[in-house]
Amino acid sequence: MVFDLEISEKGNLSIGGADATEIVQEYGTPLYVIDENKVRENYRRVYEAFSKHYDDFQIFYACKANTNLSVLRILEQEGSGIDAVSPGEIYTSLLTGFDPQRILYTGNNVKDEEMEFAIESGVRLNVDSVSQLKRLAKIVHPKGFKISFRINPMVGAGHHEHCITGGEMSKFGIMEKEAVEVYKLAKELGFDPVGIHTHIGSGILDPEPFKLAVTTLMDIAGDIAKNAGVKFEFIDFGGGLGIPYTPEEDILDIETFAKEITDLFKEKLAQYNLGKPTMCIEPGRYIVGDASYLLAKVNTVKQSYRKFVGVDAGFNTLLRPAMYGSYHHIVVANKPQAEAVEEIDVAGNVCESGDLFARDRPLPEIEEGDIIAIMNAGAYAFSMASQYNSRPRTAEVLVKDGETDLIREKESIADVLNKQILPARLLK
Ligand SMILES: Cc1ncc(COP(=O)(O)O)c(C=O)c1O
Repeated sequence: MVFDLEISEKGNLSIGGADATEIVQEYGTPLYVIDENKVRENYRRVYEAFSKHYDDFQIFYACKANTNLSVLRILEQEGSGIDAVSPGEIYTSLLTGFDPQRILYTGNNVKDEEMEFAIESGVRLNVDSVSQLKRLAKIVHPKGFKISFRINPMVGAGHHEHCITGGEMSKFGIMEKEAVEVYKLAKELGFDPVGIHTHIGSGILDPEPFKLAVTTLMDIAGDIAKNAGVKFEFIDFGGGLGIPYTPEEDILDIETFAKEITDLFKEKLAQYNLGKPTMCIEPGRYIVGDASYLLAKVNTVKQSYRKFVGVDAGFNTLLRPAMYGSYHHIVVANKPQAEAVEEIDVAGNVCESGDLFARDRPLPEIEEGDIIAIMNAGAYAFSMASQYNSRPRTAEVLVKDGETDLIREKESIADVLNKQILPARLLK
């Protein structure tokens, strides 16, 4: 994959039609900059690729990837639903106008209070364990209450061990061999189980494990329909569609992928006589991942035993490199077309040796004051940011056709202290 760069009239990196260095002059660094058109294009590409093969198709955007209110509004306008994993995500989605029936709450290790919140909010519940099912039966009057279950199909995939959510090491879902019994139990308790769900992992570029999970889930659904008498209203294959982060990775061919998945789906619907349920998927990364840059300023160029370029962001701002060893492509926003001349380390400003955005990265000559642009910073980026080292979290800007809007103010140090209480006895 060759990353296409937009270049401004002044020869700088351009994001959504706006010059990155001018954005920085206006809003400072570090800064997340989200390209609205990219979010919309990504959504439409997936939606069209699937819906042309199966018209009862629904995307539930996995909002954990990026919960900014503006991103959610954009996706609500596009017709998306939401995959929510916490009361906070339910609340945020409702606030941005999503119909509760288009929000699927897939928690794990869920507390009773969280289920109560979900029920009061009117969203759909996707149950992760027998424990949760039994507790739910005490919280809600089960008669006719519609639910679905997350099933572990014993297939897992993902870009890192931490992101594989199916298979025997996974904490998620109900074991496939238990599935029929769980649907029977749900019916005995009075529930109306109408859905089945899986999510096998995140950052998948090879379609094969995803196809295997689809086949397995459909076989399980067939078994449940036959032996537990369930009529499915929806079948949800989760998210996980990957994006290339390195220039060596290939793009997921979404057209072929969608055709293969929907073909499999339709074949299995016919095989098991499952009618025409809604087909759902839950992409997060694919929709927002490449729609955002993290811009950071070089404040130190340091020749130690190695050469370090030090910037004003760290793993508190973008955790993926430190957490997963993830590669993020980096360009110099004020000279995006300059040739690489040396291999250097790009380090953050957090007091940890693991706080590196890149090791031995071929880059042009970098000077203090340069702006680096970290690419593909739209998913699991701001949403994983923290205040570690007592640093306020950064601002976010939305760009559309060259126009910018501040969509999140930079936090202050007072925000870092917010909610702390110093007991009176310590003030003496
Ligand atoms: C239940 C569920 N659905 C969807 C997703 C989205 O994954 P991705 O952003 O890789 O598409 C996740 C991610 O962890 C998830 O847990």
